[in-house]
Amino acid sequence: MQYQISSSSPADLQASCIVVTLDQSGKLSDAAQAIDNASGGFIQARIDGRDIRGKTAETLLLPAVSGIKAERVLLVGSGKEDVKPAAAQKILKAIAATTGKMDGQIALALSALVNDELTETWWAEQTAMAFGSAAYQFTETKGKKDEPEADSAPQGLIWLGNDVTDALNKGDAVANGVNFARELGNMPPNICTPSWLAGQAGELAADKALDVSVLDEEELEEMGAGAFVSVAKGSSEPGKIIIMKYMGAGKDAPVHMILGKGITFDTGGISLKPGQKMDEMKYDMCGAASVFGTMKTLLQLKPAINVIGMVTSAENMPAGNASKPGDVVTSLSGKTIEILNTDAEGRLVLCDALTYGIDHFKPASVVDIATLTGACMAALGEVNSGLFTQDETLAGELQTAAQYSCDKVWRLPLEDDYQELLDSNFADMANIGGPLAGATTAACFLSRFTEGTPWAHLDIAGTAWVGGAKKGATGRPVPLLVNYLLGK
Ligand code: BES
Ligand code: MN
Ligand code: ZN
Repeated sequence: MQYQISSSSPADLQASCIVVTLDQSGKLSDAAQAIDNASGGFIQARIDGRDIRGKTAETLLLPAVSGIKAERVLLVGSGKEDVKPAAAQKILKAIAATTGKMDGQIALALSALVNDELTETWWAEQTAMAFGSAAYQFTETKGKKDEPEADSAPQGLIWLGNDVTDALNKGDAVANGVNFARELGNMPPNICTPSWLAGQAGELAADKALDVSVLDEEELEEMGAGAFVSVAKGSSEPGKIIIMKYMGAGKDAPVHMILGKGITFDTGGISLKPGQKMDEMKYDMCGAASVFGTMKTLLQLKPAINVIGMVTSAENMPAGNASKPGDVVTSLSGKTIEILNTDAEGRLVLCDALTYGIDHFKPASVVDIATLTGACMAALGEVNSGLFTQDETLAGELQTAAQYSCDKVWRLPLEDDYQELLDSNFADMANIGGPLAGATTAACFLSRFTEGTPWAHLDIAGTAWVGGAKKGATGRPVPLLVNYLLGK
C-alpha cells in the first residue's frame, strides 16, 4: 500500500473517497464541516434527515457530493467524544470494510478522534493495520473455477494531518505479519505439516537478514529430546524444530527468543479427542504461525534488535507406535515425565525446545506462544490471551504492548503453590495436573524448563482463531509480539 500525507483542504482533495467523522451528538469534525460548507450544507441535511446519527462505527456513503473534488464522501460515526481503543477498532474496521474494495486513493481525515491515549501516530498505525487486515482472503485451496473476479483494492491512503509515515509503514508491516500468520493457520493440515512449515521458513530466508536452520526428528532423538519425540513419533510426518535468527542489533547485543507451539494437527493421540469440531485442531499450530508472522513483520521493518524465532512442530496422532498413557520419557533437560494424557502434547514439544533454545542461544528473555489449554479458553474466552510469568518486568512489557496494540492479555496465576499438582509416583513430573487450574498447571510444567531465564507464556487457545460461520485464524498475537519486541 502507498501512503501519502496531505494538508490540503478536504473539499479540494482528489480521491476516490474521503472519510470524515461526526460524534453521537451529531457534531461534525472540522473536516466534515469543511465539506459541509463547500457542498452547501449537504452533510448537515443528511444528519437532519436522520440518515446517520454518529453512533460508533455507523457509516453513510455519499456518492458525488457537489462542490467536493473527491468522488465520494464516507461519513463515519465516532460515538462518544472520548474514543476508547475498542470503539476505535470498530470505527477503523467499518471504514476499511466500506472503502477497502474501492479503486484509487482513500483519504482519511481522522484528527478529530485523536485524544491523550489514542495519539495521531496510534490512529495511523491502526488504520494501516485495519486496511491490511480487510484485504486478507483465504483462496489457496478454493477451486479456481469459482474464483470471484479479482477484487479491486485502494492503491493508497492519503492521511490528512501530520507526517505519520513511519506509523503507517509500521501498521502495514504488522498487517502483513498478521495476514501471514492467518494464512498459515488456515492452511489445511494435509498441506501444513511440520516439513511444510520448515519450507515456509526457508522462503522467509530469501531475505538475507534471516538465518534459518532446522532440527529434524532423528537429530532430536539422538540429542535426547525424548519429550518432543514422544509426540512426533506416532505420525508419519516427521517432527521439526525450526530456528529463525534475525540479528538486527549485531552479535554482541542481547537476543530475545519467541517460541511457538506448532502442532499441525492435534487428534489427542491415544487419548483421542471427541470428533466434534476436530477439524479446528489444525489451528494447533497458531503459536508457530504467530512466530512466523512476527518474523515477517521484523523483516519488513528491519529494527535494530536480535530475535530468535523458534517453532516446535509435530503432528499428534494415534498409532501403533504412539505414546500411551503411563509411558515415562526423558526430556532433553534430563527430567523424566510420566505421560498421563497424550492430549497434553503441547507442553511436551515445548519443553525440549525451551531447553534447547535456552542452552544454545542464552536468550535475555523467552516468550512462548501456544494454543495450550481448553481451560484457558474457558476462563478468558476469545477476548484475552492468557499471560503467565513470574517476571514482573516481562509482565509489564507484555501488558503495555498488548494494550497499545489492542491485542489483549490477562494475567493468570503462576505460583509455586500449584506445582505439586504435577507430582508423579513414577517420574519427576506428570504431564497433566488434574481437573483444577488446567491453564496454570500447563504453565507450571513449562516453568520447570526455563529456570534462570526471564520467561513468559502466552496461552492463545481462545484468541488464535474464531469458529462458526466466520471460521478463520485471527493472526493474534502478532501485533502484541511485534510491539513487545520493538520495545527491546
Ligand atoms: N491443543 C489443545 C488445547 C486446545 C483445545 C486449544 C481446544 C483450543 C481449543 C491441547 O493440546 C490439549 O489438548 N489440551 C488439553 C490438556 C489436558 C489433556 C490436560 C485440554 O486443554 O483439554
Ligand atoms: Mn492436545
Ligand atoms: Zn494441542
